[in-house]
Amino acid sequence: MHAFRLAAVGSPPALARIARPDPGPGEVLVRVAACGLNFADLLMIEGRYQERPEPPFTLGMELAGRVEAPGPGVTGFRPGDPVAGFPGIGGLADYAVVPANRCLKLPAGMDMLQGAAFQIAYGTAHLALGHKARLLPGETLFVTGAAGGVGLTAVEIGKRMGARVIASARGAARLETARQAGADVLIDSDAPDLSRALKAAGGVDVVCDTVGGPAFLEALRSTRPEGRLLTIGFAGGEVPQVPANLLLVKNLSVMGLYWGGYLAFRPDILTDSLATLAGWIAAGALHPHIGQTFPLEQAVEALAALRERRTTGKIVVTMA
Ligand SMILES: NC(=O)c1ccc[n+]([C@@H]2O[C@H](COP(=O)([O-])OP(=O)(O)OC[C@H]3O[C@@H](n4cnc5c(N)ncnc54)[C@H](OP(=O)(O)O)[C@@H]3O)[C@@H](O)[C@H]2O)c1
Repeated sequence: MHAFRLAAVGSPPALARIARPDPGPGEVLVRVAACGLNFADLLMIEGRYQERPEPPFTLGMELAGRVEAPGPGVTGFRPGDPVAGFPGIGGLADYAVVPANRCLKLPAGMDMLQGAAFQIAYGTAHLALGHKARLLPGETLFVTGAAGGVGLTAVEIGKRMGARVIASARGAARLETARQAGADVLIDSDAPDLSRALKAAGGVDVVCDTVGGPAFLEALRSTRPEGRLLTIGFAGGEVPQVPANLLLVKNLSVMGLYWGGYLAFRPDILTDSLATLAGWIAAGALHPHIGQTFPLEQAVEALAALRERRTTGKIVVTMA
């Protein structure tokens, strides 16, 4: 089968032909239709992601496809079932092995592209805003990187939870994408004095930050008493250092959220959230934004588009 492989950390990944894997106990072999790309794929290639699988391995964290064969002991999945799964690696290939407890059946009404694109982005935004920050109707949510994979879903879910949403992204076209997802106030991330713009917009109750760096600290200064700041990622490359005195004076909370981390200590929270989100998408209540699709042969170009901030929402790679 074809697989998009990383031979060594720091080396350019490339398409290769390898043997089709067999599902072990508790696993499902999936014939992959589509694989969603994530910023974490870029970090993994550089060896900078928190999960560090030993190369060589096949890239691709989340996928959708049809069950080819359930492994020994697996019940609940049959050949041909349409599924979404998040194996963590291995999705950028014709076939992938996925732990059965990381698979869910695609509801009628959800297609393969949506199935491959929704899990990590919507899952992260949903747990962050609901489970973690307890965003309330009428509160103001500020989302950085709001045209990106996670950011755009945070805008949409924030609106669904009844918040007023302020979105920041780079340039008018990307801001328009955030507006279409429901953002009420738009701020160009290249404009100076974010803190002032946020205060002019009335201040913020919850910050959902996927970019890090100075934007996080400026948002901190514009957060109302009892505000909650979610640190989700550092796409800008800089990990902000938080002045604890400001947290004390304004009764603020800074919260870390690592979606995949729930697999280790509360997988039920994660799988319940995914089931809820799949239902909402199938019912048409959420609209996954797939900015661009690429065939597997163009996986290098797909990663370049992500690295160079050229697409909005999710990039999905499709298999033949
Ligand atoms: N904690 C978790 O569980 C979790 C889950 C998923 C993702 N993440 C993290 O969240 C961040 C976003 O992930 P994603 O998949 O949504 O990525 P993405 O689709 O690439 O979105 C990232 C956004 O950040 C903005 N950005 C600002 N400075 C950037 C820079 N120097 N390089 C690249 N982008 C920059 C870009 O928007 P503009 O061009 O409009 O500025 C881009 O749209 C990453 O750090 C990722 O590792 C964390």
